[in-house]
Amino acid sequence: MHSLPSPASVPLLVFSALFFAALCFCDPRANEVDLICSNRTTPLPDRRAFATSFAEAMDAVSPQINAQQYASAVGRAGNNTVYAFAECMEDLDRIDCDLCIARAKVQILRCSALQQGTRGGRLFYDGCYLRYDDYYFFNESLSPQDTTVCGTEDFGGNQTMFMNNVVELGRNLSLQAPINGGFSVGSVIRGNVSVYGLAQCWKLVNGSECQNCLNNTAVRIDSCPPKKEGRGLNAGCYFMYSTEKFYYNNTKPFQINEGERRLIILAAVSSTLALLLIIALAAFLIRMKLVRKTREKKQLGLLVDVVNNSKRNFSYELLEKATSYFHQSSKLGQGGSGSVYKGILPDGKPVAIKRLVFNTTQWVDHFFNEVNLISDIDHKNLVKLLGCSITGPESLLVYEYIPNLSLHDHLFAKKNIPPLSWETRCKIILGTAEGLAYLHEESNLRIIHRDIKLTNVLLDKDFTPKIADFGLARLFPEDATHISTGVAGTLYVTFPLSQFHLPLGSA
Ligand SMILES: *[C@@H]1O[C@H](CO)[C@@H](O)[C@H](O)[C@H]1NC(C)=O
Ligand SMILES: *[C@@H]1O[C@H](CO)[C@@H](O)[C@H](O)[C@H]1NC(C)=O
Ligand SMILES: *[C@@H]1O[C@H](CO)[C@@H](O)[C@H](O)[C@H]1NC(C)=O
Ligand SMILES: *[C@@H]1O[C@H](CO)[C@@H](O)[C@H](O)[C@H]1NC(C)=O
Ligand SMILES: *[C@@H]1O[C@H](CO)[C@@H](O)[C@H](O)[C@H]1NC(C)=O
Ligand SMILES: *[C@@H]1O[C@H](CO)[C@@H](O)[C@H](O)[C@H]1NC(C)=O
Ligand SMILES: *[C@@H]1O[C@H](CO)[C@@H](O)[C@H](O)[C@H]1NC(C)=O
Ligand SMILES: *[C@@H]1O[C@H](CO)[C@@H](O)[C@H](O)[C@H]1NC(C)=O
Ligand SMILES: *[C@@H]1O[C@H](CO)[C@@H](O)[C@H](O)[C@H]1NC(C)=O
Repeated sequence: MHSLPSPASVPLLVFSALFFAALCFCDPRANEVDLICSNRTTPLPDRRAFATSFAEAMDAVSPQINAQQYASAVGRAGNNTVYAFAECMEDLDRIDCDLCIARAKVQILRCSALQQGTRGGRLFYDGCYLRYDDYYFFNESLSPQDTTVCGTEDFGGNQTMFMNNVVELGRNLSLQAPINGGFSVGSVIRGNVSVYGLAQCWKLVNGSECQNCLNNTAVRIDSCPPKKEGRGLNAGCYFMYSTEKFYYNNTKPFQINEGERRLIILAAVSSTLALLLIIALAAFLIRMKLVRKTREKKQLGLLVDVVNNSKRNFSYELLEKATSYFHQSSKLGQGGSGSVYKGILPDGKPVAIKRLVFNTTQWVDHFFNEVNLISDIDHKNLVKLLGCSITGPESLLVYEYIPNLSLHDHLFAKKNIPPLSWETRCKIILGTAEGLAYLHEESNLRIIHRDIKLTNVLLDKDFTPKIADFGLARLFPEDATHISTGVAGTLYVTFPLSQFHLPLGSA
């Protein structure tokens, strides 16, 4: 695309530009509308078991979301049961849906971490919904904590007309959605005034309960005008209106349907039109980039240029694509501080990507500095840290990919691989010792590993041992998150401001 396109290549360019735009046009509508923590605060009998159940349920959410855009999962550890439910708005596509839920899963931790004894939480985004609780709530449509959230700006035009339109939209959508599979979008455009709306019931709420739930939001939402936006947030449904068209018309913009395909053929005939399209698209893409830059700036402050110019920084989008959106099939395992995925970078290089349980936004500068220091460590018996991603919805670490399983797999877990020869075992013992000696004594950083175990010794193609997961203690500052080696090398992490323990022991 650097030289001027020849007329013959123009249609191709338009096509690829459209395709490209469709790939990176990501708006999961993951703006937070409300986080509602459960106010049932009787003490939990066993926080640790509860946290394990919670993690179990949350882990089961993503594969389901990926397959069907909603998820209902149960975690059972000890005497504690945790239920989790997640669903995307139906007009969102799969990629945006994954993104929205990924963000929600990180943010809902605020409900468990900040409020001692909290037994549940609901997080409403404009694009998706996530809830967990300690009782069976899947068929619940109304709850005492349901709420209405109105916008802040007043509508400027004829307010009587506006009010009438909002009321009519509420009535119509709440009647349509229950008979339309629980989802309906639409607009009322009368006089000078347009109002757009979306109504959705969660998948496990049946027709009559859906009707009941939306009637309830439709009545409450009437209190929002003259505000330009309003949302009704219930246990079983979601309703939103706005003066802007905020939903996708069931499909995404830039997806090529019949009408647009004709447009493309037209564009091919008239290359001037096509060129105009390209320019508009370029302007659009640059704008998208600027929007993303400002978002990053807000998050990273002074660090933004350093991070963006660093080869240690990987973009979230790139890593997401490298792992097929963290698809179950690319999952390598569950490590001490998050799950690990195999990814293929655009240049074909395989990497291992660790998805951290924590968001590092509160201590980004520390985190990034540490990643830089640890990335400098280069020793044949240590797994090399290549970099990280800190500007996306989740924090990720990128390691070199070690193909030949862990020592634990070879010695105990896998039955169908030949046993290691004594020669190889000797090599592994010496190599591991060399790696540890380097970490503890020879490197400038003097890292104490604190969690050496068989699963942390990985084997390369030629059975060279490589120690993984070192430096984790350095990555998490003492004041924010405390990591210590618990019994039998299992990691326990204390959330800030609470004593909520999340056992993160590897499998
Ligand atoms: C589960 O609860 C029962 C009775 O309430 C109790 O006897 C048992 O010890 C509990 N189990 C665990 C693992 O806490
Ligand atoms: C939801 O289902 C559970 C178990 O099936 C039942 O006990 C409960 O009464 C149901 N709730 C409503 C509102 O019907
Ligand atoms: C929880 O909050 C709702 C409304 O905010 C209230 O109606 C309900 O009584 C509260 N429940 C408890 C157990 O405090
Ligand atoms: C439409 O609204 C604009 C401002 O919102 C107002 O200036 C204009 O007069 C209105 N037109 C009609 C036909 O009501
Ligand atoms: C606003 O709309 C109402 C109802 O449609 C109409 O009766 C009224 O004349 C309008 N007011 C203005 C200032 O246009
Ligand atoms: C809303 O419903 C009423 C009555 O069913 C109908 O007359 C009206 O046209 C509907 N409005 C829209 C915008 O669909
Ligand atoms: C819908 O669900 C509610 C509560 O879960 C139940 O009482 C009702 O009988 C169900 N209705 C139908 C038609 O299944
Ligand atoms: C919901 O409201 C409509 C009218 O707005 C009414 O016809 C219907 O019976 C109501 N449904 C329920 C379950 O309350
Ligand atoms: C959007 O959806 C509405 C109703 O489903 C339909 O009438 C309209 O033509 C659609 N608009 C576009 C641009 O596809």
